[in-house]
Amino acid sequence: MNRHALLIVAALLSTPCLAGQAAPKADAGTTVQAARPGKAAIASSHQLATDAGLEVLAKGGNAFDAAIAVGATLAVIEPQSSGIGGGGFFLLHRADNGKNVFLDARERAPVESRSELWADAEGKLDKDKSVNGPLSAGIPGEPAAYVWLAEHYGKLPLAGSLAPAIRIAREGFPVYPRLHMSIERRKPVFTRWPASAKLYLIDGNAPATASVWKNPDIADTLERIAKQGNEGFYKGEFAARMVDAVRAAGGIWSLADLSDYTVKERDPISLDYRGWRIVTSPPVSSGGIALGEMFNILAGYDLGKYDRVHRIHFNIEAMRRAYRDRAEYLGDPDYVKMPVAELLSPLYAAGLRASIHPDKATPSDMLPGYMPPAESEHTTHYSIIDADGNMASVTKTVNLTLGSGFVVEGTGFVLNDEMDDFALLPGQPNAFGLVGGDANAPKPGHRPLSSMTPSFVIGNDRVGVIGTPGGSRIITMVFEGILAFIDGELPAQVVAKPRYHHQYLPDVVSAEPKAFTPEESKALQAMGHIVNNAERTWGLMNMVSWDRKSNTLHAGSDPREEMSSGKVQ
Ligand code: DON
Repeated sequence: MNRHALLIVAALLSTPCLAGQAAPKADAGTTVQAARPGKAAIASSHQLATDAGLEVLAKGGNAFDAAIAVGATLAVIEPQSSGIGGGGFFLLHRADNGKNVFLDARERAPVESRSELWADAEGKLDKDKSVNGPLSAGIPGEPAAYVWLAEHYGKLPLAGSLAPAIRIAREGFPVYPRLHMSIERRKPVFTRWPASAKLYLIDGNAPATASVWKNPDIADTLERIAKQGNEGFYKGEFAARMVDAVRAAGGIWSLADLSDYTVKERDPISLDYRGWRIVTSPPVSSGGIALGEMFNILAGYDLGKYDRVHRIHFNIEAMRRAYRDRAEYLGDPDYVKMPVAELLSPLYAAGLRASIHPDKATPSDMLPGYMPPAESEHTTHYSIIDADGNMASVTKTVNLTLGSGFVVEGTGFVLNDEMDDFALLPGQPNAFGLVGGDANAPKPGHRPLSSMTPSFVIGNDRVGVIGTPGGSRIITMVFEGILAFIDGELPAQVVAKPRYHHQYLPDVVSAEPKAFTPEESKALQAMGHIVNNAERTWGLMNMVSWDRKSNTLHAGSDPREEMSSGKVQ
């Protein structure tokens, strides 16, 4: 088939509305579990956070209380990745009724948002404004998530679940290398605002590795939230203080933006793949739809008949096609109409599969459209199963390293720079090459499109809770992790596994060291793949699992980060 013909076929095949009638796949995904684990498993990016979760479980809390404790502790000790000034997604499984719920605590665009604010004099995206300072900050969702979790899912009062984080903030904790390096990297931005420099720098430098770092301001902020709930953050004196500081430094937050913020409960996306149910993230995450397309494409192959190189080839081709669709159709589900059922339909996947040559890479420029996704380096994921079988899969973020770098005096936390996940100016790439259009424009109240993909993998005997940071690579990491888990690997093996990634554009397979043998690389190159071997490592995957047959729990934390910690207790 010549290039032109392939383009036309691919265009037809990849138009979801032409793919036929399909049963909608987004549902509440009820699952029934046979027994309770009797013990708990937690994996997070830092031992203090994992221990905070276990402490709250020991006090009589459940997985949802532990999700607050781990999350708030990470907000204190891992500010480079997530925090009170950011947002996230909380995928929850309740053992008592088998229900799965996706709690969307994503940031929202302030009502005064309009694209021109992020343009320079020539109409080009002003990249400083989109990632640094208060104009880059959306309205935070993380505080509201904790209040919601405690009110609707937890067994303990919010103060009980926040207690470990508050204590650690007051008593201090040893600075670890990744934190030190992150603060050092953001030093030039912190020095622009006295409150930021005061919180993060000592005599103009990042706190030394192994020195004890305290943050009494965030302890006060968390205590206020514990006592007053949403009122203590989104309303009253504290809200006014944030709005005044943001506006004085050039931002556009208003009191109404804060008081109007609410988390949203959404139905997760549920996918069936070879007898397994995957419960995952719906829009405003792009992850669940991309995973759905990839698994649906793979489901049509008799994979047992193929060698490892061909299986990798099919995975890469599935990634390429899913990422092409990723940003074209997706945005905030409260405002943007999306062809979710069509994108998740097996018929649509069959069309995509038909365009995959069994032995040859499809050059990305033969597929229609152009939509490379964002990538960035900080965010955090943790996974929890409690003794009753409740589960929490949480990915949360302030977007880039230490978010916007902007701190409101005395609050103890940095505001996110999540506005950069919008297509701030149509067709102009953001800091990570993302271009987008109207579906992901920074309109008042909208949530920016995300790649974060907290997920559950549910089989007859084994259940996994999985997720990772890693920007656009999150989705392929979760994809490969789920495949490895389905193949029988334990969490410790799944999270350590070398990764590879293709995101449609650039048309390159990124591979971690040891992802492919030299022979496999050669074979993939012979098929036409451009393989970028040993490019770097990425991700910080934390996974727990429960084998219901043997009633054993497992926790795996990513060996790429020395502080990460998975425990069963
Ligand atoms: O929501 C998103 O997709 C991004 N803000 C996530 C950023 C991220 O994962 C950076 N990670 N290492």
